Amino acid sequence: MDAVRIYGGKSLFGQTRIQGSKNASLPILAATLLTDGICEIENCPDIADVYHMLRLLRSLGCQVNREEGVIRVDTTRLSECDMPADSVGVMRSSIMLLGALLARTGEVSMEYPGGCVIGKRPIDLHLYALRRMGVVIEEDEAGFCAATAGLTGAVQELPFVSVGVTENLILAAVLAKGKTVIHPAAREPEIQALCEFLICAGGKIEGVGTDRLVIEGVKRLHPVRFRVPADRIVAGTYLAACLCAGGRIFLRDAPCAHMESVIACAERFGVRTERETNGLLVEGRADRKLPDGLVTAVYPGFPTDLQSLFMVVMACSGQDGWIEEKVFENRFRIVPELIKMGACIQVAGTRAYIHGGNPLHNTIVEAQELRGGAALVVAALAAEGTGIVTNRHYIDRGYEDITLSLRELGAAIELA
Ligand code: UD1
Repeated sequence: MDAVRIYGGKSLFGQTRIQGSKNASLPILAATLLTDGICEIENCPDIADVYHMLRLLRSLGCQVNREEGVIRVDTTRLSECDMPADSVGVMRSSIMLLGALLARTGEVSMEYPGGCVIGKRPIDLHLYALRRMGVVIEEDEAGFCAATAGLTGAVQELPFVSVGVTENLILAAVLAKGKTVIHPAAREPEIQALCEFLICAGGKIEGVGTDRLVIEGVKRLHPVRFRVPADRIVAGTYLAACLCAGGRIFLRDAPCAHMESVIACAERFGVRTERETNGLLVEGRADRKLPDGLVTAVYPGFPTDLQSLFMVVMACSGQDGWIEEKVFENRFRIVPELIKMGACIQVAGTRAYIHGGNPLHNTIVEAQELRGGAALVVAALAAEGTGIVTNRHYIDRGYEDITLSLRELGAAIELA
């Protein structure tokens, strides 16, 4: 069955290693298209979204293999510019190939990308910004064709901060003719990793880590070996699990420097944390009220990807609280499932009010997207009785093996 079974009500004790970052791996794999030769990418997680990205790269004529945790991408025989609709359809990051492919081949046709159903997730700003770099795009209901006689640098003053648009523009600009300015650029650590990869390959990018990136196009990029950083969202997931179930866990390789807002939030809930050189120690259980609520924001604010996990933390803390979702409009899909588990939550627009003091009990609940699915597993760890989370495939899009990691942390959990 496509499910996870959880025997709840057990505190967590143990340690687990945090996998490489999904959201850093995907644009870096797309960026290998910009180099001419064989790139070696270490620490890519073994998850469905990476599998789909490798499948897309193969369909474009790249030779791809994976050995002992290193993915080798040989882009010398790039041939196609049409991508298999099924992989494009399931993964929003396929849009990342657009900027890179336009730079490399000048022509792309693709279906509209898919991904988790956490909001409208349009690609209008991607297309608008690329048009400003000399790309002609024709759209119909199913997808679009994009072509350019040569990308040209442009000053991109964007109406709002977008992770994906910033990444796509970086990929388009690094080999474009002239200078590109991206403002406001997203500052997520995954964007910093993409810039570092491109700089290692010979790209000229200034302002890395700030909201203003200046990219001077270069003639070519050379292949490199690069290590993907650890996944701050996966680390935040297990941190949330400890907050809900209580205990003492060590998250080896957790990227503490990229988790400031999340660690600070955990401490406000009353747990003890220690940032160590090789990871993060968490001890205790959430039992305090957050008087100012929790508001998601672009980095370095609290990540929207951990919003549903911390909704569960609030539901387990025994205190009333509220969460405001500022990034995606449809990220409260988990609420009806948590209500089935006994939680008392009301949604009003972009705010969710969580009434503490209702102990969760286990039952059968349904994952509807990646992080919401992980949040239901975490809720089940803290709830009484035996629970089932169905639609495990959503969770597998972002976690190498959530049941194994949680068993290493002392949870009673298995595939079902
Ligand atoms: C990326 C992450 C995702 C994370 C999100 C916000 C990856 C693979 N995914 O998604 O995990 O939750 O950043 O941190 O890295 N928007 C438009 N038009 C566009 C593009 C975006 O309206 O053309 C809107 C979106 O609907 C959303 C907001 O902008 O409301 C932010 O989205 P964006 O930052 O682009 O998220 P993604 O890149 O899709």
